[in-house]
Amino acid sequence: MRTVHEIVETDVLVIGAGIAGLSAAVEAASGAKVTVLTKADSSSESATRYAQGGVAAALSPADSPELHFEDTIRAGDGLCDEDAVNVLVHEGPDRVRHLIEWGLQFDTVNGELVFGREAAHRLHRVLHAHGDATGEMIQRTLVERARGLANIELLKSRFTLQLALDAGRCVGAQVVHQQTGEVSLILARATVLATGGLGRLYRSTTNPAVATGDGAALAYRAGAAMADLEFVQFHPTALMLNGAPTFLISEAVRGEGALLRNVAGERFMPRYHEMAELAPRDVVSRAIMAELRRTDSHHVFLDVTHLDAAFIRERFPTIFKTCESYGIDITRQPVPIHPSAHYSMGGVVTDPWGRTSIPGLYACGEVACTGIHGANRLASNSLLEGLVFGNRAARAILRELPPAPAAHPEVTCPEARSMDTDPLATRLREVMWDCVGISRDAERLQQALTTLEALSEAAGVPSSCPRTAELQNMLTVARLIATAALLREESRGGHHRTDFPDHDERWRRHIIFTGASHRIQDRLVG
Ligand code: SIN
Repeated sequence: MRTVHEIVETDVLVIGAGIAGLSAAVEAASGAKVTVLTKADSSSESATRYAQGGVAAALSPADSPELHFEDTIRAGDGLCDEDAVNVLVHEGPDRVRHLIEWGLQFDTVNGELVFGREAAHRLHRVLHAHGDATGEMIQRTLVERARGLANIELLKSRFTLQLALDAGRCVGAQVVHQQTGEVSLILARATVLATGGLGRLYRSTTNPAVATGDGAALAYRAGAAMADLEFVQFHPTALMLNGAPTFLISEAVRGEGALLRNVAGERFMPRYHEMAELAPRDVVSRAIMAELRRTDSHHVFLDVTHLDAAFIRERFPTIFKTCESYGIDITRQPVPIHPSAHYSMGGVVTDPWGRTSIPGLYACGEVACTGIHGANRLASNSLLEGLVFGNRAARAILRELPPAPAAHPEVTCPEARSMDTDPLATRLREVMWDCVGISRDAERLQQALTTLEALSEAAGVPSSCPRTAELQNMLTVARLIATAALLREESRGGHHRTDFPDHDERWRRHIIFTGASHRIQDRLVG
């Protein structure tokens, strides 16, 4: 066991510095001292930063929270929690107005907000900033806001090793500094998990390197209830080019009229769904995979060459420039694309105030499972989720903040055992992509579980080396996803079983893990 170098006290510990964590921090700072941790080397690195499409909110004259509610419920395919969705669509517009007050400039025409369209939205509802740089603009606004508040301390390069528990209550976390290796115990009166998603469990993902499911693993190991983990959303259109990183090509591009074509140049989506290119993401992703098999190819094309070139350059500057840097002028050439892991609908179960099943522990953003996404997230609801539920978690915390713990809990710290994690992580990503990906079946899921078990054994005992601990987190979460996917013998939303291709009403329920056991129930909470 290792020495903990220091013990630090704060009121609210926020783990994660994307839209949800920073929203929670900014609100909590109105009445408490807040410490925000990010494992990245920069406080602006998070999945939020890479969001392109925008924020869905019922702010246009043609829209209403009721219409937004209906679209969210339809996308969620029978598993949304209606109370949580009501909170999202009704509180969302005010949260977006706050961002505007804090200086965020959403795109306008003649002084009026303009709204983009994305899949499964019945109307134009998605606000965007600097065209397709919405996430970056939001991240910048929130980081500036947080930096301007004396009550907030932002700490970079901090990897969370474990949550600290005292008599069943979360009282902070044990954290290792990624550069110095020093371990601290941060004692907090409330702890917020806002660590984002888990796309990096898959070979191909739109997520940044930090998205390794850490928060889900920490919460699970602490005994929190976890749900809906089988529902992973694959984004249909990520750039697929040798030598280029997997780069998201926003659904908003299809919202503006882009077409999907197979390698023979044929438009194929009308054969698969009446909404064609704007069908739900899972439908489009599976259609692309079917075309790839049918045409024996590795990519299909996203085509905007029929649209006005000046408009495309202005509306999608990041996508235009990124593709150009890899030799593709999207206004003249179709873009090779392929589906990629994008978003986890499941996570740490919370009520609509961000409370988890562990007293003192809250969760918000992608790591949480409030039930707003059900089995499939409506596009651009996730930034809104971060704003709304980050803020609500902080409001709940300020109401409920207990006195500081009188005594320090005993927390031991594992040795800093390091290993070459790359081969194991690569194998994990391969098996998740091949066996727990866009389409699944019992045989491949079993195979995945066997492989993941062997990898877990190879990854060994807990370590306070960040790379090793991160791999162990990935393995923990990968096994939960594969187990849930095997249990759910039906297809629904983002979960597609080739051996159970239909909905089964008996499965209009949630799989909830707590420790080694699981239960299946109608509601997430209660
Ligand atoms: C996109 O721009 O296509 C991503 C938006 C989202 O995932 O909500």
